[in-house]
Amino acid sequence: MPTKQNHINIVVITIAIILLLAALVIILDSFPDLQQSTWIVALGIFASITSPIAVYEFLIKRSPNQDEIKGKSDSSEIRNGQTLEIAAGQHGTVMQLDLRGQTVQGSQPNIGSVQGSQFSIGTVNFSPLTKPAPLAVPWQIPLPPKDFTGRSEDLGEIQDDFEQGATITGLRGMGGIGKTALALVLAQRLKDRFPDGQLFINLKGIGENPLTPADAMAQVIRAYFGSDARMPESEAEIAGLYRSVLAGKRTLLLLDNAASREQVEPLLPSEGCSVLVTSRNKFALPGLKSWDLDPLSPADARELLLAIAPRIDSHADKLAKLCAFLPITLKAAAYLLAETTDLTPAKYVEELSDERTRLMQLGRAGEDLDAEACFMLSYRRLPTETARIFRLLSVFLSDFDAQAEEAICQDEGHRHLSELLRGSLVEYQRSSQEGEGRYHLHDLMRLFAAGRLEEEGGEAARNDAQQRHAEYFSYLPLQSFMKRGTLWAG
Ligand SMILES: Nc1ncnc2c1ncn2[C@@H]1O[C@H](COP(=O)(O)OP(=O)(O)OP(=O)(O)O)[C@@H](O)[C@H]1O
Ligand SMILES: [Mg+2]
Repeated sequence: MPTKQNHINIVVITIAIILLLAALVIILDSFPDLQQSTWIVALGIFASITSPIAVYEFLIKRSPNQDEIKGKSDSSEIRNGQTLEIAAGQHGTVMQLDLRGQTVQGSQPNIGSVQGSQFSIGTVNFSPLTKPAPLAVPWQIPLPPKDFTGRSEDLGEIQDDFEQGATITGLRGMGGIGKTALALVLAQRLKDRFPDGQLFINLKGIGENPLTPADAMAQVIRAYFGSDARMPESEAEIAGLYRSVLAGKRTLLLLDNAASREQVEPLLPSEGCSVLVTSRNKFALPGLKSWDLDPLSPADARELLLAIAPRIDSHADKLAKLCAFLPITLKAAAYLLAETTDLTPAKYVEELSDERTRLMQLGRAGEDLDAEACFMLSYRRLPTETARIFRLLSVFLSDFDAQAEEAICQDEGHRHLSELLRGSLVEYQRSSQEGEGRYHLHDLMRLFAAGRLEEEGGEAARNDAQQRHAEYFSYLPLQSFMKRGTLWAG
């Protein structure tokens, strides 16, 4: 694109050529003898060609070259008294000759200006933050599992919600229940609504090193400007750039595996974009509509098993129940049977009947489908006392209320129970009547807690908790009687 400075240069050069030619005509006209000299004519032609070039060079060296520098990725020269603007998103190193003629080098902030000093010539090497040509529309979200089964009700309701303008949707639930799989299916179905891209960011909320909001923002910026795009140093600038990149776009962000409100809230983008968040942890956010996922229905669980390993055949219902209808374990069992041809479904069902070894048997299909390892990720992050209470909860063979838990696990004000509920290690069913609801552990989570109690709590802790459990429930009818005046009141 021609710049204003270029236009001025062209006009000045044209005037210079005209003046030189006019001077030549006047000289030749005034001295007719000279017209006979071929030397003089040659000199005239030579002067009219070379002088404009000299004038051009002179002008280039004198003129400030700000326009050239903005947005360029190579180096540019600054000369005496010149100021070079450094645009937002550029970063550079300034090299100058000092008064003794030695080269000195200094890093340049990513926005500002450089002033050429009086006796030096400097070079600004720019490495731009963003590439001049942005990448094509990013489609980062992986395809959903080919054998995705069921969840039609959840899908229908969440899609309806989108139709009605929901922009922040949360999928919550225990490890392995299928949050990510469902989010991938939703993203695929909603694809046409987001012509400016679909981004997938694993926030690593359940691991040792969750992503910081700035790290997550940098991933989004790089999705649009390439993986080698340099980030500004301050978090505030990254956040500004993040908002600028998403402004006016219709992009879907899938924030997988989120840790907390603190991690997600800074990432909520401007109007036009939507966010799908998956998390084992329950947290609230302005505008967030959350969905708590249940295990698959018995019919869907059966269908999934048979789709992967038709040889399961008549054992499907029993096997689905032993897998507690959890997608991760259903898949583990089905893949094991599909790949281990000398293991009969009947034999495997028999092996799984032993509660003490069930989780281990279900983990045989491989690391990515190991429910025990999946639960362990949540367990490892629990504070010591909350982990102790979690282990003790394995003495409840069915659902229970907060009062029973407080007495049996010695958890004052069921503080730790609430913490476990927030982390999806415990489920909660609100009571239909006014009053408290009931808690329970998913079948396989209870087996996991029992395993931990066996390994870490020791026999004594388990015996004490079982003793308190027996005492609590043997006195319960009496307490009820004292409260209500009858032993059988509902
Ligand atoms: N409805 C489904 N149909 C078929 N496979 C499923 C379904 N839901 C989940 N899966 C499979 O079960 C496994 C666990 O699912 P997923 O990874 O989505 O669980 P998650 O809830 O996201 O777990 P985490 O908390 O560990 O991230 C995956 O292999 C996934 O492909
Ligand atoms: Mg997941």
